[in-house]
Amino acid sequence: MNAITRLAAVISLASLLPLHATAAGNGTVEVLHWWTSGGEAAAVQTLKAQVEKDGFTWKDNAVAGGGGAAAMTVLKSRAVAGNPPAAAQIKGPDIQEWGALGLLTELDEVSTANNWDTLLPAKVADIMKYDGHYVAVPVNIHRVNWLWINPQVFEKAGAKVPTTLDELFTAADQLKAAGFQPLAHGGQPWQDSTVFESLVLAMLGPKGYHAAFVDLDENTLTGEPMIKVFQTLQRLGGYMDPNRAGRDWNIAAAEVINGKAGMQIMGDWAKSEWTAAGKVAGKDYQCVAFPGTQGSFTYNIDSLAMFRLKDDNDIKAQNDLAKVALEPQFQTVFNQNKGSLPVRQDMDMSAFDACTQQSAKDFKVAEQGDGLQPSMAHNMASSLAVQGAIFDVVTNFLNDPKADPAKAVKQLNSAIKSAK
Ligand code: BGC
Repeated sequence: MNAITRLAAVISLASLLPLHATAAGNGTVEVLHWWTSGGEAAAVQTLKAQVEKDGFTWKDNAVAGGGGAAAMTVLKSRAVAGNPPAAAQIKGPDIQEWGALGLLTELDEVSTANNWDTLLPAKVADIMKYDGHYVAVPVNIHRVNWLWINPQVFEKAGAKVPTTLDELFTAADQLKAAGFQPLAHGGQPWQDSTVFESLVLAMLGPKGYHAAFVDLDENTLTGEPMIKVFQTLQRLGGYMDPNRAGRDWNIAAAEVINGKAGMQIMGDWAKSEWTAAGKVAGKDYQCVAFPGTQGSFTYNIDSLAMFRLKDDNDIKAQNDLAKVALEPQFQTVFNQNKGSLPVRQDMDMSAFDACTQQSAKDFKVAEQGDGLQPSMAHNMASSLAVQGAIFDVVTNFLNDPKADPAKAVKQLNSAIKSAK
């Protein structure tokens, strides 16, 4: 029995319990999410403000923990207890799994009235639908394969912005020699795998990346090129703080912002921290595609899946949240704060900074060929069970500087096989 079948069995019992408490007045929308860093909180505040402006009550259920693993644990226990929130941050293939449990509500009225099918790229719309009906609303498109750079630190170290992996190591050596932490990083499984997937993209290319994380192809997972990826990951680990265990991503971002470290390999939510610190893209900091991944774009789409509710007023509040999330005004302000691209395709990009404008251009280029790929580390490529198996192998490997890359690829393959 896999995790989701087990959950289904428990939920069928729990469905005998009341689904949602009745709210008085204009209706309440409870939103479970993991946007808790300074920049993320500023972004979520824009959504809350809009829902409140429309006369509804926002009940915030923020579960700290980057990448969302802790939030997903809370969500599962709420669902098992028969008391899910109105909306929860659920992404990628996981939306299908929740849909299959029969817990999500169909957003037919709001999606038809607001033309979601024409507003959204087809690829995005498909992810949001279960059985042909929208059950989730996307809020943005994050790009994962970024490198964030403090140019003042680079200048002091005499380093140049890297465009290849060789140049990345050269810059890292120069930063180290000048007394800086070359790579800011937090030792948490999702952060380790964020670095790992960008290396796979750089070294195997987008087709190899797809074969590894979407097709879970054994030859790709165990071949010589993947052994080289692990070797390179080990080498990169040597430029990270050995005391990084448990460090949150935004604390690592702050090390680059404050000039203690030179770079961070992280998705563009990292930009939300630079923005919150009042820093300007292209001037105070630089964003470049992770070296060797130019032309590719690993996407990570944040979306709010909507659970079935009983109270009519709460359903009105839930529909309002779904509608607001795709309105142009919200798409602009939210994504300016969040660091991501608007998910609507008809937006005026002149209101965005240089990094987001670059991201929009790169998305279009990547979309033309194989370059547009789902992020493994951010729940877009596989089930959470497979993702968890990859996380374990990668983190154990990175935590042991003497680990054997040839063994790691075998462990990766067998861990994935047993999670499938
Ligand atoms: C989410 C982002 C979030 C980041 C750090 C990612 O998985 O998609 O919205 O900012 O995790 O928590």
